[in-house]
Amino acid sequence: MEIQLWREFLSPYQLAVDELIIKFRHLKEDFDIQGVYSPIDQVEGRVKTIDSILDKLQKKDISMNDMAEKIEDIAGIRITCQFVEDIDRVAELIKERRDMEVLQEKDYIRNIKDSGYRSYHLIISYTVHTAKGPRTLPAEIQIRTIGMNFWATIEHSLQYKYKGSIPERVQQKLSNASSAIDAIDHAMSEVRDEIMDAQVYHLRKEHTVKDILNNIQNLYKVANRREVNKIQDEFYRIYLLDDLAKLQHFSKQLDIISEGYRAQSLN
Ligand code: GTP
Ligand code: MG
Repeated sequence: MEIQLWREFLSPYQLAVDELIIKFRHLKEDFDIQGVYSPIDQVEGRVKTIDSILDKLQKKDISMNDMAEKIEDIAGIRITCQFVEDIDRVAELIKERRDMEVLQEKDYIRNIKDSGYRSYHLIISYTVHTAKGPRTLPAEIQIRTIGMNFWATIEHSLQYKYKGSIPERVQQKLSNASSAIDAIDHAMSEVRDEIMDAQVYHLRKEHTVKDILNNIQNLYKVANRREVNKIQDEFYRIYLLDDLAKLQHFSKQLDIISEGYRAQSLN
């Protein structure tokens, strides 16, 4: 196939990857904005390179005519989570969506691969709108913890180095490392509630401080400088107390003051 034809062939997959990355990153942001713990930590994606598509066609004895139908990971998205428990939640969120349909699920967490690979895979069907009209494509979504991702990245590099046949001695080490990471994932799960609380607390504080600073900045434009300075000093005092409730209360009061000035300026 000519390069130009490859470009045309891959273009809708690139669109799918771009859209899916935006959608999942935005989902994470939505949780953050609401001050709720997000099961999504990071979102990445890629379109399979031409040479790795060719490798796969050869390895699986697929003809080029069948590749759109038979290769399901030309568009690939990877979602990393902080905790194992988050993985099922992300899978549920995906199944509830109306803009994609889950075609297949592979649970390599409850059914670990011989290599030691752990991850949760969904094959989805997703429609993009191209210049030639709608195109429905498969895409692979890999959901894993940061630890599982660490392992898979290293193992993948070694696969590459040893051209797919990692020596037994190295394989044994990888298998041990996989078990160690599983143990870490479970140890982390035991402090999950505490970590979630701390992270949500931090996020809420960050948002409140941002609101307050915004308000103070705007007040400088409309209010008496001495009064704003007083408000600012009061903010510093409350900030140092490290008490979110007090900070939120102060923010509400500031909203009322700002609202007052806005009403005045409208008159
Ligand atoms: P391919 O493995 O992609 O040829 O297709 P498959 O039909 O066997 O699907 P599978 O679910 O086994 O793998 C899909 C993807 O998961 C792969 O392309 C890799 O990105 C990843 N994966 C699967 N097994 C392993 C593994 O042992 N090590 C690593 N690092 N990644 C793996
Ligand atoms: Mg495979």
